[in-house]
Amino acid sequence: MGICWSAKIHKAESPAHTGVNSSKYVSSNSDESISSSKVSSSVPPTPRSEGEILQSSNLKSFNFADLKISTRNFRPDSVLGGGGFGSVFKGWIDENSFTAAKPGTGMIIAVKKLHQESHQGHREWLAEVNYLGQFSHPHLVKLIGYCLEDDHRLLVYEFMPRGSLENHLFRRGSYFQPLSWSLRLKVAHGAAEGLAFLHSSEAKVIYRDFKTSNILLDSNYNAKLSDFGLAKDGPTGDKSHVSTRVMGTYGYAAPEYLATGHLTAKSDVYSYGVVLLEMLSGRRAIDKNRPSGEHRLVEWAKPYLASKRKVYRIMDNRLDGQYTMDVAQRLANLAFRCISLESKLRPTMEEIVEELDQLRDLEITENQSKTRNGSRQRRRSAGDVVNKIAKDAYPRPSASPP
Ligand SMILES: Nc1ncnc2c1ncn2[C@@H]1O[C@H](COP(=O)(O)OP(=O)(O)OP(=O)(O)O)[C@@H](O)[C@H]1O
Ligand SMILES: [Mg+2]
Repeated sequence: MGICWSAKIHKAESPAHTGVNSSKYVSSNSDESISSSKVSSSVPPTPRSEGEILQSSNLKSFNFADLKISTRNFRPDSVLGGGGFGSVFKGWIDENSFTAAKPGTGMIIAVKKLHQESHQGHREWLAEVNYLGQFSHPHLVKLIGYCLEDDHRLLVYEFMPRGSLENHLFRRGSYFQPLSWSLRLKVAHGAAEGLAFLHSSEAKVIYRDFKTSNILLDSNYNAKLSDFGLAKDGPTGDKSHVSTRVMGTYGYAAPEYLATGHLTAKSDVYSYGVVLLEMLSGRRAIDKNRPSGEHRLVEWAKPYLASKRKVYRIMDNRLDGQYTMDVAQRLANLAFRCISLESKLRPTMEEIVEELDQLRDLEITENQSKTRNGSRQRRRSAGDVVNKIAKDAYPRPSASPP
């Protein structure tokens, strides 16, 4: 299937993506519309037309003038980020009337403003209203409303104070401290719960754009998925997949999806595996600034993931001393299964959530035993007790045997 660079792709390479080499793509052939034959017991069938989608959602319809005031005329210093769709601005509204409020008062919102005259953008805007208008889940970002006025297309979200996982993993600077091991586990778990919900019989949706920039963090580092522009209803009846044109972001899409356009929930599981690898290694899915042979994270990491003894080589050295090898090995193994070339061998998101439940419990037990051993050690004379932390925490890659 041929892949062409769409307008969206060029826009995806915005300053916010500096150093990022995984960019959006969309194949040129076949048309794809937001349509659905979904029938689920708890969610009504997805409406088809734009009018029906807008009418059936419980979202607030904002007028453009209000959003302009609330973002201080979309001032450049209100920009929270930018992607292929457009830019995201910080704004303020009154929490009761939802009208523009003075900066610093009322409720903070994030306003995504679509680049004008983008057909693909309109389609994604509508898909976002369609899905986020129906679903409410602790691990999906809340869409408050939208604006459709002349050729203006905007989306109004709850504000996520800690921004995206991408910023926390890859942005260098004093504002973004490297995410600790336990926060990485928390985020991996929350994001898995979001995806598991989407794949559940309640929602039956394939997300199709799972990546670090679409995982947003609230003040307590709860992960919430945003950006449903590429989401699709899962297959119905006895169908094994949905046929689509190939869309997504380089570095995250499952190989069989790229090759055939056949989309399944297991395509999301592959992307989840890539994100898990990014969290373990602190490396981007695609990074052309690295030496040759290390551009594609999956290809570089795979041989190390397959061997328990080599796992330490892929670990982010900013995590040194924070993790225990048991948990790191099991997470690496989980990532390894997620990125399996054979989609049937990949776990389901539900299984992934269960595994992460166990790993977080194990991490807590290990940390408690570290603390206990630490205090016992302090009571005894120094040096006569093997330091459990040093023993369990994996050695720094530089200090490890080749
Ligand atoms: N609700 C929100 N609260 C706070 N920041 C947000 C919110 N939504 C988006 N952002 C910020 O804006 C950035 C850009 O988001 P956007 O979805 O437009 O682009 P992207 O995910 O980087 O790329 P793509 O267009 O490929 O999805 C995010 O990475 C995040 O930092
Ligand atoms: Mg996004």
